[in-house]
Amino acid sequence: MHYSALISSVSLILILLHLPNAANADLNSDKQSLLSFAALLPHGRKLNWSSSTPVCTWTGVTCNAAQTGVLTLRLPGVGLFGQIPPDTLGKLDALQVLSLRSNRLTEDLPPDVSSLPSIHSLYLQHNNLSGIIPTALSSNLSFLDLSYNTFVGEIPLSIKNLTWLTSLFLQNNSLSGPIPDFQLPKLRRLNLSNNNLSGPIPSSLQKFPVDSFLGNPFLCGPPLKLCFPISPSPSPIFPPPISPTRHKRSFWKRLSTGVIIAIAAGGSVILFILAVIFLICVFKRKERESSGASKGKAIAGGRTEKPKEDYSSGVQEAEKNKLVFFEGCSYNFDLEDLLRASAEVLGKGSYGTTYKAILEDGTTVVVKRLKEVVVGKKDFEQQMEMIGRVGQHPNVLPLRAYYYSKDEKLLVYDYVPTGSFSAFLHGNKVAGRTPLDWDARLKIALGTARGIAHIHTEGGSGKFIHGNVKSSNVLLTPDLDACVSEFGLSHLMSAAAATTSRVVIGYRAPELIETRKATQKSDVYSFGVLLLEMLTGKAPLQSPGRDDVVDLVRWVHSVVREEWTAEVFDVDLVRHPHIEEELVQMLQIAMACVARVPDQRPRMEDVIRMIEEVRNSDSENRPSSEEKGKDNNNGQRS
Ligand SMILES: *[C@@H]1O[C@H](CO)[C@@H](O)[C@H](O)[C@H]1NC(C)=O
Ligand SMILES: *[C@@H]1O[C@H](CO)[C@@H](O)[C@H](O)[C@H]1NC(C)=O
Ligand SMILES: *[C@@H]1O[C@H](CO)[C@@H](O)[C@H](O)[C@H]1NC(C)=O
Ligand SMILES: *[C@@H]1O[C@H](CO)[C@@H](O)[C@H](O)[C@H]1NC(C)=O
Ligand SMILES: *[C@@H]1O[C@H](CO)[C@@H](O)[C@H](O)[C@H]1NC(C)=O
Ligand SMILES: *[C@@H]1O[C@H](CO)[C@@H](O)[C@H](O)[C@H]1NC(C)=O
Ligand SMILES: *[C@@H]1O[C@H](CO)[C@@H](O)[C@H](O)[C@H]1NC(C)=O
Repeated sequence: MHYSALISSVSLILILLHLPNAANADLNSDKQSLLSFAALLPHGRKLNWSSSTPVCTWTGVTCNAAQTGVLTLRLPGVGLFGQIPPDTLGKLDALQVLSLRSNRLTEDLPPDVSSLPSIHSLYLQHNNLSGIIPTALSSNLSFLDLSYNTFVGEIPLSIKNLTWLTSLFLQNNSLSGPIPDFQLPKLRRLNLSNNNLSGPIPSSLQKFPVDSFLGNPFLCGPPLKLCFPISPSPSPIFPPPISPTRHKRSFWKRLSTGVIIAIAAGGSVILFILAVIFLICVFKRKERESSGASKGKAIAGGRTEKPKEDYSSGVQEAEKNKLVFFEGCSYNFDLEDLLRASAEVLGKGSYGTTYKAILEDGTTVVVKRLKEVVVGKKDFEQQMEMIGRVGQHPNVLPLRAYYYSKDEKLLVYDYVPTGSFSAFLHGNKVAGRTPLDWDARLKIALGTARGIAHIHTEGGSGKFIHGNVKSSNVLLTPDLDACVSEFGLSHLMSAAAATTSRVVIGYRAPELIETRKATQKSDVYSFGVLLLEMLTGKAPLQSPGRDDVVDLVRWVHSVVREEWTAEVFDVDLVRHPHIEEELVQMLQIAMACVARVPDQRPRMEDVIRMIEEVRNSDSENRPSSEEKGKDNNNGQRS
């Protein structure tokens, strides 16, 4: 008994000693491989890969849950330049996803990379890789994108062995020779366009649309033109379908079997083709009639089945890699990924439409599509630099990247899932959630004030303004930290539009009606309205002509003048005991902010101090939150 206990405890110790060592060994060897990869391959953007920091925190690297190996490596568009060094990435045994697209990689793709045992997604498009496609391919591959490179030679037969393959992109290379008959049951997306492939398209691939095969002059057979010459008839060049859909694919499939039968029957081929052309014409006209409108929403890359709102229409093909990222940003995607993301409309604001975009790898960001930008490229870029710089503050939503072209201006922000202050203040009663208590509101007010003050002081020469302070532009983290968004954009719009119509009426300082020039003082006014909104629980006037909402400032003024001060506060707030004093103090701050004369309004710095004092002045007198809870539970105590 003694012995067995001893033995089991010894083996346990061995296990405990052994396991982490093995893990570290794996992780260490992965780290060494990555370090030598980075050392051997020049790159434009600096990587924070340092031997003294844990590999799992490096840019572009994620590890598996057990932290025993590198799971994904994504370095798109970081300016990698040269040949992928053999014996580096090829040693990452646990690697499942490798993305090195949109770099300037040259020469061969080392076979040890393409045959990594666990790899299932390989994104190497938009490089200058050359040589042949390695025949050694991991049998686990499900996504292989080698498009827009300069690969030569034939498509390797070993692709036939990739039973998990769902997507194969080889377009825009210099591949030649026949297309192997893949017979891959899971293959859904295929692009072999713009190569020099020749011969008949194998029957297993005839279900794919014409634009999977375009630009290969020596390819033939359905869905392209038939392989043998038919002299008397006009050559049956099938018009390419407008956008491939499932329905249409099955149509093509049926068609191709039809063709074979017709040929086998040896009979009226020409008649049949004429019939086909007729059918297609009828089919296309029908489609044009039925989907005339939705056709405009072509999807960039055409990879999503779901129709999505489109923020990509103005992006020029030639400019697809001009997404400008700011320093310190950990995102690893390029414009192409962004355009391919599935998007949903979050809101149509005064500066344009805002989308939530979910990228292929699951990253979620917010994309704002600006309309009516009047400044030129240079001014735009300067303003973006400024916004990027000012964004480095915990209470300010940082701008992560932007894109500028003549027809399209896109801004990329972090996605804050919790919601806006406005939604919390006004949406809760409907949703039946608990209303924000006073502590939360005080914290949010203080955070917002700090965010705005930072914008005022950090921006160029102390003249930088937010320009659109309102509760729906204050986003809340799960911990209810306020994050001010949408700042600095009014500069980009025409002066007239920027102030009058842009600032929501209820938040607009009175002087803006005449001067039309937003200032830091008009930001202070808007912030004052936001405080009133928080205190009263009432939404300020959103647009003229709606009488279910009030002109908050005028209403509060009238109530306070009549000395019914207690009446102004949100009923959800007055339920909390012992806070009247703080409520009144905050009301006084708000009233100072909404003073009619701009010069009488405090600066944001002063506002912060005043709000901090609200909490400090009587914190000793205030019961702690537990005691408050007791108060509530026990009903009225003396
Ligand atoms: C292929 O992937 C599966 C999981 O998808 C994994 O269990 C298997 O080990 C992988 N094969 C190799 C050779 O790593
Ligand atoms: C790609 O590589 C070839 C040589 O391998 C070179 O001639 C060509 O200029 C490169 N193209 C680009 C776009 O770098
Ligand atoms: C496919 O795999 C089998 C064994 O798994 C191998 O014998 C065969 O050579 C492979 N085919 C190609 C074309 O690589
Ligand atoms: C792909 O090839 C086609 C035909 O050669 C060309 O028109 C197109 O510009 C190429 N696309 C890219 C992104 O290089
Ligand atoms: C394309 O392939 C054909 C033969 O299939 C060959 O004659 C031609 O030279 C090739 N063109 C290029 C540009 O490689
Ligand atoms: C394949 O790539 C070509 C060239 O980029 C493009 O024109 C075509 O639409 C693509 N086809 C599919 C099915 O994605
Ligand atoms: C590297 O940069 C990323 C993104 O900026 C950051 O999340 C990560 O913590 C950094 N890692 C190290 C070791 O500095």
